[in-house]
Amino acid sequence: PDAGDISARLLAWYDRHARVMPWRVGPAERRAGHRPDPYRVWLSEIMLQQTTVAAVRDYFRRFTDRWPDVEALAAAPDADVMAEWAGLGYYARARNLLKGARAVVALHGGRFPETRDGLLSLPGVGPYTAAAVASIAFDEPATVVDGNVERVVSRLFAVETPLPAAKPELTRLAATLTPQVRPGDHAQAMMDLGATICTPRKPVCSLCPLRPDCEGHRAGLEAELPRKAPK
Ligand code: ADE
Repeated sequence: PDAGDISARLLAWYDRHARVMPWRVGPAERRAGHRPDPYRVWLSEIMLQQTTVAAVRDYFRRFTDRWPDVEALAAAPDADVMAEWAGLGYYARARNLLKGARAVVALHGGRFPETRDGLLSLPGVGPYTAAAVASIAFDEPATVVDGNVERVVSRLFAVETPLPAAKPELTRLAATLTPQVRPGDHAQAMMDLGATICTPRKPVCSLCPLRPDCEGHRAGLEAELPRKAPK
């Protein structure tokens, strides 16, 4: 099937079933012309790097209540930010968050770089976060690959190569699906599909918008993919 058809089906599903998150712009707001705030997208993606959506939610609210924009965060004392981060873990992220905010203010006049490559220059922003922010906040057709996306793609294309060796292939296949329109919604739809339908055990294929396209399902392999190399 055509990659454009797959993404179109996925986006139609996302318009009805997107999970509501405090850093997202909902369908009605989007139709009214609202864009996601790059600061909020960046902050959420750093928090989500090694942490679940459920755990991040309240931290995100407290951070944005206290520091509503990148200038406010950049001006915050280190100890205040570290204290607000307490409990989220991986504290290097909090230190990098501050470095990143200060770099945006000092080097970019308080505006986030609008491309994946520009974002990569910020402390604490690696390939995953750069692609996520570029696509979600700036509509760059960058491909976002996390564990959810790897699972969805491995099933959709029935990739039998075990992880981690399969990663380059999965990244390449994921990129073939990334649309020119709404790439950020496409990225988030892939993550939501992986989190709610295309789950690690017992995927709910009966509710999946991509079932007609899914080679893994056709082969009856969905629950076995992605394969993992023995440790
Ligand atoms: N995990 C990381 N970023 C995410 C996002 N924008 N939506 C859902 N899950 C995510």
